[in-house]
Amino acid sequence: MGYRVVVAGATGNVGREMLNILAERQFPVDEIVALASRRSLGTEVSFGDKTLKTKDLDGFDFTGWDIALFAIGSDATKKYAPIAAKSGCVVIDNSSLYRYDADVPLVVPEVNPEAVDGYNKKNIIANPNCSTAQMVVALKPLHDRARIKRVVVSTYQSVSGSGKEAIDELWNQTKGMYVPGQEVEPKVYPKQIAFNVIPHIDVFLDDGSTKEEWKMVAETKKIIDKSIKLTATCVRVPVFVGHSEAINIEFEEFLDEDEARDILREAPGIMVVDKREDGGYITPIECVGDFATFISRIRQDSTIENGLNIWCVSDNLRKGAALNAVQIAETLGNRCLKKG
Ligand SMILES: NC(=O)c1ccc[n+]([C@@H]2O[C@H](COP(=O)([O-])OP(=O)(O)OC[C@H]3O[C@@H](n4cnc5c(N)ncnc54)[C@H](OP(=O)(O)O)[C@@H]3O)[C@@H](O)[C@H]2O)c1
Repeated sequence: MGYRVVVAGATGNVGREMLNILAERQFPVDEIVALASRRSLGTEVSFGDKTLKTKDLDGFDFTGWDIALFAIGSDATKKYAPIAAKSGCVVIDNSSLYRYDADVPLVVPEVNPEAVDGYNKKNIIANPNCSTAQMVVALKPLHDRARIKRVVVSTYQSVSGSGKEAIDELWNQTKGMYVPGQEVEPKVYPKQIAFNVIPHIDVFLDDGSTKEEWKMVAETKKIIDKSIKLTATCVRVPVFVGHSEAINIEFEEFLDEDEARDILREAPGIMVVDKREDGGYITPIECVGDFATFISRIRQDSTIENGLNIWCVSDNLRKGAALNAVQIAETLGNRCLKKG
């Protein structure tokens, strides 16, 4: 006995990864359906060694379906998630729409799996922002040992975090640089992304920060501990897949770098690669297609009493989105729905 599973946004970057990961992890599926907009009707997507033909989300009857993994953006989610939830299908949503709703759990299974139990208030569970997901996997075991007071994080986020059009923009802009007359003007991003970095992700807020930076603050508080102070600078870089983060952490108690390395080695979802030599660290290219969040460059910050620096890299389409959503489905199955 398995689940009847819906993947909405199946033609997108995250949706395709969801189908791959459901198959890779042998999620107990009795029946699966791939949905997208009407534009993609009949588009073929892979599910393990099977091929699914995409159906139209609009008008789809969710009655009798157990779990719907949504990766369709906030506007479409606003329209379709309540319809699915009302039909008794539990929505696991990748957009930011429900993340800050007190009646919707925001879950990273390595960090707060018990929060899944609150799914039935709205029949919706939210997946965090990609930059938050990989960071909290690293912060939680360190917080449990030495209590985090403050975090300063700078991100280096890949273009796949902005959807498939952004991937095309980086690719075409990069090629266009070498062919006179084929230069590609910025469309997805406010400035050229090829051979550049852009210190701006999502909209600006009144205090001068961006919404992406605010999300990291609000989501870390909701997932780990509201007492943690966090300040972020989120930057888009010309990398296709894989987000990187330089994280500075100040603790209540002293935490030695060797002990931190041991704690992280034992922590779920983390792979430590930290050799103090040329290439003894992980870069985004090496994390693509992997399940782990990689931690490198673990070192004391001697400018404060109880400080550490770490480098954190993960596949944003996986831990930052699709993998985390499938892990939530697994957790929901094990703790609440009990089928399969
Ligand atoms: N990429 C990341 O790292 C990441 C991380 C965390 C969260 N997310 C979130 O995940 C969601 C999807 O991101 P993505 O990167 O996969 O985007 P994407 O590659 O642009 O794909 C968007 C998907 O949504 C579908 N869609 C859009 N509007 C729709 C509508 N009105 N009705 C039905 N289907 C609709 C598209 O279908 P068509 O192909 O038919 O247009 C496509 O399948 C977004 O909410 C994003 O914020 C992304």
